[in-house]
Amino acid sequence: MKDRNPAAASIEKQKAGEAAAGLVKEGMVIGLGTGSTTAYTIAQVGRRVDEGLDILAVVTSYQSEMLAIDAGIPLTSLAEHPTLDIAIDGADQVDADFNVIKGGGAAHTREKVVAKSAKRFVIVADDSKTSDRLDHFVPIEVLPYASNLVIRQMKELGGEPQMRLGVRKDGPVISDNGNFILDVKFGVIKDPAKLSLELSACTGVVEHGIFTNVHDIYIGKKDGSVTITSSI
Ligand code: 5RP
Repeated sequence: MKDRNPAAASIEKQKAGEAAAGLVKEGMVIGLGTGSTTAYTIAQVGRRVDEGLDILAVVTSYQSEMLAIDAGIPLTSLAEHPTLDIAIDGADQVDADFNVIKGGGAAHTREKVVAKSAKRFVIVADDSKTSDRLDHFVPIEVLPYASNLVIRQMKELGGEPQMRLGVRKDGPVISDNGNFILDVKFGVIKDPAKLSLELSACTGVVEHGIFTNVHDIYIGKKDGSVTITSSI
């Protein structure tokens, strides 16, 4: 499991996160993702709000809610604004075909709802997240009542599921939605779209961390540059 300590922050994450904040324009309703890279986006959007930018934001987690409030970004909800102009979020792994694995912070269910509600979905990440093929474990949010059933279905799909356990909290991680998280190793994922459909079809799965609807990817490099690629 990767280090999610804020001390793991880096210039790569900062540059990617801040660059994508430049996509936010006056009057937009935006989605704010979760994680240490998106934290830089939120801080940068907050600075622009201080300078007079008039926007509204929908958050994807308690973490992004706290950061957005600290940054002075006015918040709204999907109930009030079901369609977002743009959503910006981090990633655990990104392949060359714009497939992404998310959920390292257990926020992927709300992140997917927000990403699918947005006209444009932008990923911000550091260089270490890129890979030719996806082989990162897939976080799966599961209904606690169904966790043994989901473990069985993951094994039937060829996965090796592991319950995510708390740090400084005994027992399973509980998501912002009150559910458990299984981290499932599938080795190299040859067809992310197919696995995405198979995981969605499993009874008891609330949401999984494969995202196939990415429009733009901002990758921060060690030298401070940012590479931007677009699928549209
Ligand atoms: C949270 C996520 C994060 O966006 C992802 O884990 C990347 O995090 P970071 O920017 O801290 O590396 O999906 O559920």
